[in-house]
Amino acid sequence: MRVLGSFLLLAAVPVTLAVKSHDFKTCSQAGFCRRGRALSARAAQHESWRSPYTVDADSLTISTDQASFIAGVKSSLYPNIKFGLEVRVHEDGVVRVKMDEVDGLRKRYDEAASWALIADPKISNNIKWKVGKKDARAVYGAKKDVEVVVSFEPLKVTTFRNGKEQVVLNGRGLLHLEHFRTKEPAVAEIPESEVPEEGLDVEDAQKVLKAAKPTAWFEGEEEDAYWEETFSSWTDSKPKGPESLSLDITFPNHGHVYGIPQHASSLDLRTTTGESPYYTEPYRLYNADTFEYLADSTMSLYGSIPVMHAHSTDSTVAIFNAVGSETWIDIAHPSASSTETHWISESGILDVFIMPGPTPKDIFAQYSGLTGTQALPADWALGYHQCRWNYVSSDDVRSVQQKFDEADMPVDVFWLDIEYAEEHKYFIWDKKTFPDPVEMTNDVAAASRKMVVIIDPHFKRTSSYPVYQEAVDRGLLVRQKDGTSEYEGWCWSGSSAWVDFFNPAAWDWWKTLFKTYSLGDDKFSWTQSTDDVYIWNDMNEPSIFNGPEISMPRDNVHHGGWEHRDLHNINGMLFSNLTSQAITVRSDPPKRPFVLTRSFYAGSQRFGAMWTGDNLGTWEHMAVGIKMVLANSIGGFAFTGSDVGGFFGNPDPEMLVRWYHVGAFSPFFRAHAHIDTKRREPYLLAEPHKTMVKNILRRRYSMLPIWYTAFREASTTGLPVARPHYVAFPKDEAGFSLDDQYFIGSSGLLVKPVTEKGATKASVYLPPNEIFYDYDSYSLYRTAAQGKSVEVAAELSQLPLFIQGGSILSTRERPRRSASVMRRDPFTLQVALDKSSSARGELYLDDGVTFNHEQGQIVWREFRSEKSGKGIKLSSRDLTTQNLNSAVDSVALTTYDAANAYAQSLASVRVERVVVLGLGAKPTKITTSTGKELQWEYVPGISSSEKKEGTASLLVIKDPAVSIASDWEIVVQA
Ligand code: NOJ
Repeated sequence: MRVLGSFLLLAAVPVTLAVKSHDFKTCSQAGFCRRGRALSARAAQHESWRSPYTVDADSLTISTDQASFIAGVKSSLYPNIKFGLEVRVHEDGVVRVKMDEVDGLRKRYDEAASWALIADPKISNNIKWKVGKKDARAVYGAKKDVEVVVSFEPLKVTTFRNGKEQVVLNGRGLLHLEHFRTKEPAVAEIPESEVPEEGLDVEDAQKVLKAAKPTAWFEGEEEDAYWEETFSSWTDSKPKGPESLSLDITFPNHGHVYGIPQHASSLDLRTTTGESPYYTEPYRLYNADTFEYLADSTMSLYGSIPVMHAHSTDSTVAIFNAVGSETWIDIAHPSASSTETHWISESGILDVFIMPGPTPKDIFAQYSGLTGTQALPADWALGYHQCRWNYVSSDDVRSVQQKFDEADMPVDVFWLDIEYAEEHKYFIWDKKTFPDPVEMTNDVAAASRKMVVIIDPHFKRTSSYPVYQEAVDRGLLVRQKDGTSEYEGWCWSGSSAWVDFFNPAAWDWWKTLFKTYSLGDDKFSWTQSTDDVYIWNDMNEPSIFNGPEISMPRDNVHHGGWEHRDLHNINGMLFSNLTSQAITVRSDPPKRPFVLTRSFYAGSQRFGAMWTGDNLGTWEHMAVGIKMVLANSIGGFAFTGSDVGGFFGNPDPEMLVRWYHVGAFSPFFRAHAHIDTKRREPYLLAEPHKTMVKNILRRRYSMLPIWYTAFREASTTGLPVARPHYVAFPKDEAGFSLDDQYFIGSSGLLVKPVTEKGATKASVYLPPNEIFYDYDSYSLYRTAAQGKSVEVAAELSQLPLFIQGGSILSTRERPRRSASVMRRDPFTLQVALDKSSSARGELYLDDGVTFNHEQGQIVWREFRSEKSGKGIKLSSRDLTTQNLNSAVDSVALTTYDAANAYAQSLASVRVERVVVLGLGAKPTKITTSTGKELQWEYVPGISSSEKKEGTASLLVIKDPAVSIASDWEIVVQA
């Protein structure tokens, strides 16, 4: 058991860097996982194994709109238990498969999808089910190339594309919904009247009784942990008995699977079963505060997104298994081009969404159609965040801000961890150390910066704490297994209680707490804060120091009578959901919220950012943090990052510099450190490291327009900001396992952070048929029909960073103190020509803080370079009007006006420099469309159209003085 005391001890003793594995279950220590794996082993041992589940063809109905296939399902092993199956095809081709027990003794948890989905998906009106003797099939898709087949005996659901199997549910017969049952009396409790024959002793009597009521053989001989389960010193009372859900999902034609965050592991998921598995434990999804987690493991971490992509050069498909309970996933690769998975969940109905793809881009559209896209953050949230546990006083915060300014280092946000709060009563400032929180925030805001303050979900149980007392008075707290008494657990605040955010009555109340003005009537509101204070939600797994696996007892009771086990993985999401709503409605008109969450579920991307929790200051953790960011991106959560520097330990300057590179190229960029680490704000570094970090910070800021544009794309299309190779180049098999280099949005930027001590070089893989330019040296690399790895210099001050030929990047090169003061800064365009001397790029801008972009107050430009004689023609045009027919945007496109007030306000914001890489010939004259002749410099070098490598030619057009928000042309004659 871990108690608060042992945490505090950490402040005094050196950190021992090792996960307390015994705090967390292995599969064999979780009854239902043990049962699930045993079932799979039994099926494997019996060659003639067939799933006992069959579709009852007599009960089959197709709904009148043709949209749903509904049928009863029987299990040959439990003929008296009824199940219902429903298969629907959505408008976008997603297939939803649902199965539940019908008229069971109890009700299975069926609300997971309702928390994850943004709306009830629209059902296709273009489906015609063909029902035969053995199956029902529906063919659909624009080219009629997709088919879903429900086979009856045994039950199996298969999707096909062009006749090729894509996803198969229950193909291996591991489907099993443990039906609700009554507990058999223990031997000693068998009443006399039930002893079947006179003269039998109790043991024999039990055998006879068992024979009369056999458990199906594939469930095993024993009632293994059906009615009670003990782990370490905790006993789970399991009042509903066994109710687990096992399902095999096979991708017969896909050799790579990705996703199911969060694990500290490779992006390309590894085998956990079979001949020589890489891991022996299944990937586990059970949100947990895995203290000092391992850098290569299938152990659970803080969040769970049960989404898996399966990929091949042919197609990408994906599934979303909408389950909220603990889930274990076994993975095997029977061949290099196929994948078998087995999902074992503790409770809940079967509710699986099959996304047909066929490209990664389609998958992101289909998944975000279900659970929403990444919320577009405020622009300042993409700047650098400075955190530590803890800045100890308001004067400490002021002094940190001053030192950043003295060092001329940009930063946007200062963070306060739990020590700001009196006795860890969140919202309540410790007056001794933070006597003037509003003035402190105003001082930070005066330099155009923000504060983020932590609000955890454990509330100190004392009537003098208004937040706790109001929750008690309103009956909003999570209850113990008896369903009535308040649950008490131990966390930072000592004896604590947890608000049940599944209770709608908690929602409006929670929002009132964040109001910055007085609500009167003795109601609590956060008058000691301002609109410049944003929120960090930590410990929301929930983390409970004296609870089983450092979390909440599974038999605790939530709103609606559901047990904690049913919704554990969703719990953390509700906290950040409500907090982000509270921050949004705090001001009128509303402003974009910022909420960082540690725990998350499918859909959490709608509410803010996440980070990878308590990493260690080691090279392994630095490296795995990148893989975790990519895996989260696959799960739809784009706004992610790891603690720069590592939470535990004291990184040396070399490690810190490398870690700043990792952070500066992560969507969410925050440095954070444990309370007993040495101070390590970047201005404390000695030279040359101090200047290195300053340059890294400045590079991040120069690229904010690229990040913002990538976030805009994520928020409208679901595509990730940190984009793995297989997403960017889905046909390039050589890159399918790459997870240490990635692209930034659609910008064409490719980055490979260095995560090895002492490195001076790095190897970077470049995909086929492309040109790449080194961002700093302008070295041009060229690939042919095969991709290739190139070795590049990577001294400590260097980051392997490339621009893909054919891209145009928009940057802002003037060093500034924060993102907010850059909004009217001029732009540099970097044009990286492809083989045919063309390039294109996009830039998205809006006011960065309000929701006016949803009313069309935006600038969305396309820049192009096209060959023109021996030279090129560069141009800028409005992109929103070009996309009037596209449905991807939330902007009310039909009423969109390219000359909207926001765009007009940028009329004087200009392009101050255009850099062209790879131009074939020295220009003779450069003019704008208005005839104005421009100044330029040209350094000869390799041209993009030559079949050579070397330093690219460089053209710098000085001050073309064209506006960033209007149409223009620049003609480069050569
Ligand atoms: C655990 C979080 O993961 C960490 O970032 C934070 O500093 C501590 N809780 C204290 O709040």
